[in-house]
Amino acid sequence: MKILALCGSLRSGSLNASVLRSAVGLCEPSWKLTVEPDPGRLPFFNADVEQYALPQVVAELRARVGAADGLLISTPEYAHGTSGVLKNALEWLVGGGETAGLPVALMSASPAVTGGDRAQAWLSETLTVMGADVLEDGLKIPQATRKVRDGRVVDEATLAGIRELLGRLAEVSEARRAAA
Ligand SMILES: Cc1cc2nc3c(=O)[nH]c(=O)nc-3n(C[C@H](O)[C@H](O)[C@H](O)COP(=O)(O)O)c2cc1C
Repeated sequence: MKILALCGSLRSGSLNASVLRSAVGLCEPSWKLTVEPDPGRLPFFNADVEQYALPQVVAELRARVGAADGLLISTPEYAHGTSGVLKNALEWLVGGGETAGLPVALMSASPAVTGGDRAQAWLSETLTVMGADVLEDGLKIPQATRKVRDGRVVDEATLAGIRELLGRLAEVSEARRAAA
């Protein structure tokens, strides 16, 4: 089963990238979790470019999302929303239609006590309108600077939360694949 992971932060010391790195290590042997390389390579969405000269990086992103059984996203919260880089990637995916029916699990890590809950709610609404099957109760990781060390999650409760969310994503993704 193939799961594609998207990180909403470009920061080298990103908490959300650390969460995804840890998720890779928590996968069952039969799951293949691949983190999408640097979404900052995508140009800003432009409907003219989409119509007349789709960039190769966008076509490759669409192909990877289309080939995935499920999507795992970890987003930072910026000014109570998700990041521009992640919103931009999603805008490129609207026209491709690859997210229709696709199971998506959401995570957010923030130094704040809210754990990025507003960014997650915002993302959930966007992905739902894109036809994705957004899992209920994504994982919010509050005070994440205390739970990440050397680019990995070290907090046991958070690791358990990631494992639980991955399990649910795998279950829904497998069911979708079996029904296809
Ligand atoms: C411009 C800016 C706006 C931010 N706004 C919020 C916010 O609304 N809510 C929040 O919880 N954290 C906010 N933060 C803090 C981020 O959650 C924090 O920088 C986090 O570490 C970013 O994610 P990353 O570590 O994956 O890069 C903001 C940070 C910046 C730089």
